[in-house]
Amino acid sequence: MSKQITLRRALLFMPGDSLRKIEKAIGLGVDSIVMDLEDGVAFSQKAAARRTVVEALQTLDFGRSERLVRMNPMGSELAEDDLRSTITGRPDGYVLPKAEFPEQVEAVAEFLALEERARGWPVGRIKLLPIVETALGVMNVREVALASQRVDALLFGAEDLAGDMGALRTPAGWEVFYARSAVVLAAKAYRLAAIDQVFFDLNDLAGFEEECRAGRQMAYDGKMVIHPRQVEIAQRIFAPSPEEIQRARRIIQAHDEAQAAGLGAFALDGRMVDMPVVRMAEQALQRAQAAGLLDDA
Ligand code: COA
Ligand code: MG
Repeated sequence: MSKQITLRRALLFMPGDSLRKIEKAIGLGVDSIVMDLEDGVAFSQKAAARRTVVEALQTLDFGRSERLVRMNPMGSELAEDDLRSTITGRPDGYVLPKAEFPEQVEAVAEFLALEERARGWPVGRIKLLPIVETALGVMNVREVALASQRVDALLFGAEDLAGDMGALRTPAGWEVFYARSAVVLAAKAYRLAAIDQVFFDLNDLAGFEEECRAGRQMAYDGKMVIHPRQVEIAQRIFAPSPEEIQRARRIIQAHDEAQAAGLGAFALDGRMVDMPVVRMAEQALQRAQAAGLLDDA
């Protein structure tokens, strides 16, 4: 039932007109590289950015990093040219900012289906990753999530949301907390990956790590990142720790023994273990497997 898990612990964004930053990103072993055509690119540079992104897609070896393009919002005059020019580079997916209506997602999906057919590529392979970052997007998150089979992850954009609503950003983030919860809940309900908000302070790595942990605790699978120094931290926090893996294994083993002895609930290290705990342990091992952290079978 569940889709193939794509590992997206960190999605590193960079302006699409910076070939240097795209090249730098490739050396980092980051799960996803997002070449931006939207708000990270000046209006005067939009056309140059499209050309640079296509050149990068066609000429650089991204290794194991996923190759994503963030287009401009559907409905803007830039969106169609973004798609038409970058499809020739055959990215792995498109990030759709300010997604608010299922029709926006459907329109991109239809464009991709036509292109895939015309080019003899397998149909449906190119993924869509909507960013929920407006009040309307939060209200319509279910419809956006279900708009296309290509939707593979929901991203939560706190900064744009705060701007859209007129909220004031704070370090604690309560002003966007309902929305941050709503996006991860919708993603999990529809079996999509959930990617957490950007942390803007490039020098506060302790604060960044704390926000990664909070996102992980909320069930986010990864985080949008904006600087190389954020990559390793996000990829570490969004993968299960060695302690988590070890404990998950003990829980599953103890559970098997309890089941064999006819026991549903039992105690392990003074804590009650029953099915929900076992399921969380199984999930931790699945995430560890996806992250390549399980050397044995
Ligand atoms: N991706 C890849 N490489 C990056 C990078 C990124 N997002 N951000 C910085 N780097 C590189 C720089 O090129 C530099 O390498 P170099 O000196 O060999 O060229 C190195 O990392 C150190 O960069 P630093 O000097 O600390 O940062 P900066 O002042 O050059 O850039 C930002 C600061 C914020 C402009 C930059 O981090 C950036 O572009 N971030 C992404 C912005 C973006 O995409 N926003 C839209 C999505 S939210
Ligand atoms: Mg944004």
